[in-house]
Amino acid sequence: MPSSLEFTPQVKAATQPIYERLRDVIPEMEWPVHAPLIARINELKRERSATLVAHNYQLPEIFHGIADYTGDSLGMAKFGAETEADVIVVCGVRFMAESAKMLSPEKTVLLPDMEAGCSLAASITAQDVRRMREKYPGVPVVTYVNTYADVRAEADICCTSVNAVQVVESLGTDRVIFIPDGYLGRYVATQTDVEIILWEGACEVHERFTGEELRHYRRSYPDIQVIAHPECPPDVLEEADFVGSTSGMIRYIDEHRPERVVMITECTMSDNVAVEFPRTNFVRPCNLCPHMRRITLPKILHSLETLQPEVHINPETARQAHRSLERMLAV
Ligand code: 13P
Ligand code: SF4
Repeated sequence: MPSSLEFTPQVKAATQPIYERLRDVIPEMEWPVHAPLIARINELKRERSATLVAHNYQLPEIFHGIADYTGDSLGMAKFGAETEADVIVVCGVRFMAESAKMLSPEKTVLLPDMEAGCSLAASITAQDVRRMREKYPGVPVVTYVNTYADVRAEADICCTSVNAVQVVESLGTDRVIFIPDGYLGRYVATQTDVEIILWEGACEVHERFTGEELRHYRRSYPDIQVIAHPECPPDVLEEADFVGSTSGMIRYIDEHRPERVVMITECTMSDNVAVEFPRTNFVRPCNLCPHMRRITLPKILHSLETLQPEVHINPETARQAHRSLERMLAV
C-alpha cells in the first residue's frame, strides 16, 4: 500500500466523524482499511471537479463516506442531469451510468467497474423489442430504466419504479408493452386499467423472496412492518404493508418511524438506512446484488486517478434513447 494510503493520525482525524456514524455497521478493526481510501477519494473529487452519485444499494463506506448524492435510479438520473461537475462517478450499475451519460453527454461519466450489470438489463435485446412491436403493431413500448441504451432507443418512453404507473397512464392507450421486468409489469397491472403486455425478465435479487418468507417474519415478529420493492413476485407484494422504490421505502420509514421493519430488497440498503434511523430495528434478510457489489473503494479511487473506465454510447443510439428518457422526465 503506498504511503499516501496509510492510516495516519491525520487520516484518522479527518475521517472520524464519518466513522462515528458508521460504527454500528462497520467493525472498528476494518476502518483503517477504508479510511485512507475515503480521505484520498474525497481529495481527488475536489481536484478533478468530480461528483459521485451512489445508489441506495451501495456499501455503507461508499454511501456515507464519499457520495455527494444518494438515491434511487430516478433521483440519480435527475441529479446527473443537473450537476455542474465535469466528471460524474456513478456508484451503481451500468444502466445507471448510461442514464447519466445520456443526460450529460458533454461530461465524463465513469463507472468504476464496467462489468457491473443487471439481470433485468441482460434479459432483453433491441431485436427482442423490435419483434414485440411486430407482434403488437401500434402498441407503445414502456421500458423500465433497467435496460441498456440500445433497448431504450427502441422504446417510446422509460420509467422507473417510482413513476411506472404514471408513465403507463400518460400514454393514453388501452394497452402498452412493458419491458423487461415481468414482476414490476404485473404490479403496475394491479394499479391501472391499462392492459399490460409483459416481458418475462426478472431481478435476480428480488425474485428470490417468497410470500411464505414474509409470513414467517410476521409470525416471528408480530409488530413488524413489511416494505417491499415492486420488482418482487406478486405473492410477496400482497403480503407487504407498503410497496415502493428504494427511496420510497426510505421515505416510508422516515414518515412512519416503525419500531421494527423488514425491507424486502437488496440487503445492503438496510445497513445504509439503519445509520439514519437508529431507533428502528431492522430485520435483514441477506439477498445481495452481485453487480452492485462490484463497486468498491479501491476501484473508485482508480477511476478518479485514471478517469477510466469511461462510459461511451454510440451518438445515434444515445440520441434516440435520450428521447425516451426525456419523455419520462417530462411526465
Ligand atoms: P430503484 O430505482 O427503486 O432504486 O431500484 C432500482 C434497482 O433495482 C436498482 O438495482
Ligand atoms: Fe439489477 Fe436487481 Fe441488481 Fe438492481 S438489484 S441492479 S435490478 S440485478
